[in-house]
This record gives sequence, C-alpha cells and structure tokens, in this order.
Amino acid sequence: MLAIVGGSGLTQLASLTITRREVVRTPYGEPSGALTFGEVCGRPVVFLARHGYGHTIAPHLVNYRANLWALKHVGTTGVISVASVGGIRAAFGPGVLIVPDQIIDYTWGRKSTYFDASDQPVHHVDFTHPYDSALRAALIAAAAAAGEAVFDGGVYATTQGPRLETAAEINRLERDGADVVGMTGMPEAVLAREIELPYAAINVVANYAAGRASSEQGISFDSIEVVLHEAMTRVRCILDQLCGDGAVRP
Ligand code: HPA
Repeated sequence: MLAIVGGSGLTQLASLTITRREVVRTPYGEPSGALTFGEVCGRPVVFLARHGYGHTIAPHLVNYRANLWALKHVGTTGVISVASVGGIRAAFGPGVLIVPDQIIDYTWGRKSTYFDASDQPVHHVDFTHPYDSALRAALIAAAAAAGEAVFDGGVYATTQGPRLETAAEINRLERDGADVVGMTGMPEAVLAREIELPYAAINVVANYAAGRASSEQGISFDSIEVVLHEAMTRVRCILDQLCGDGAVRP
C-alpha cells in the first residue's frame, strides 16, 4: 500500500475514496493526525497531512518519527512526499514540479533518528541516494502518462523555518548546489530510510526563493496560494496515475 504525505496545499486527495480513519499510537508520540485510508482507482492508499488537517503544525514541530513509524506500522510499502518549495535555480519558477534526487540538510534540533536509545548499538544508514530510485522512476513515469511536466532531479535544501530565508542565505544555498528550498524534507527522508520504507518526493515550486526574480523585494503570500492551488491539481493527476496504474504494487 502506498502512502502519500501531503504538505502545504495538499491536505486531502480529491480522488481518494475514503474507507476509514485510524489514530495510530506510536512509541514516539502522536502523528500529525489520523491516517486516512482509502482507494484511488480501486487501489489502497493511505494519506497523512504532514502539518495536520487544520494546517497547524509548523515544519520544525512535525513529529516526523511518529508519522513514518505509523505509516510503516499499518503496512505501507512506499511513501510519496508532496512538499512545496522555493525555487532557487532560475528554471524553477512558481508552478514548476520537481522530483528531487538529492538533499542537503540545514535543520537543527529535530529528532532525526530512531537509533538514539542508550541501550542500542550505534547504527549508521547509507544515505548516498536519499530517495528510492524505483519510486522516483514510477513518479516520473506517472507524470509522463498524465501529460504533466516534471523535472527529473534537483537538490532539495531543507531549512529549519518556520521563517523564510534571507537573500544571502539563498545565495549560500545556491553556492552549496541547492536547486530548491523547503522546510520538511528532513528528517522525513532519513527516517523513512532507517525503517526501510522506500521514499520519494514531488516538489511544487510555490515561489521564487528569497531575493530571486519576482521575490527580489520579498515573497508574496497571496500569490503562493494561487500557485499552489493550481499546481496541486496537476500533482493530484500524477498521483492518481501513480496509484491507479499499479506502478507501485500494494
Ligand atoms: N523557503 C522555504 N520553504 C518554502 C519556500 C521557501 O521559499 N516556499 C515554500 N516552502
């Protein structure tokens, strides 16, 4: 069963026929909300709104460990993260969709491992390629089948938030090699890896990053809403295709 973790702009899936909701208790506390089970084109899918169904949980306060643990616990075999980002690369303007292939982590103070109990041996996971290649390929194929353009590859920088970045910080991220910037990619991706849940992401550019193009003088929140609303319609088409054509077997 595929899981979809929705971010800003995607707190529900239009084509999801909901069958039930389940509050999962975890050793790590409360997930962002009840898991929503349902079907897309007859195939089982579980959905979770990362920031809560009322969009009240800030990126640095999301209980990523509980979210991923809960999804694993109910039998999820793969996770698609949908997350809005700021575009750093010039081609990544508002509305562009990207399936990133790399991550740089600038977050701090988040609970970013399951392996921190004092009675456990130290455990290191390989994270050379942070996203699952088969799931990425399935997403890209689903986008092609849905007739939606997505960029294959990009470096996702995860900042702490909840504030947006300064123009100088964005310049630094670009020098580091980042193409897009968001606040939730980590530790979500590494936690999925630690519990062996294949994980891939689709990023939606909500705005040019601070200091770039239309964001040179500041970031307009009014236009972000409009952009996300339109772009999430395209993301839903891709997800329908992905879930519906059996590209990811339950
Ligand atoms: N920065 C960080 N996260 C974001 C942005 C941004 O500009 N836009 C949407 N999420």
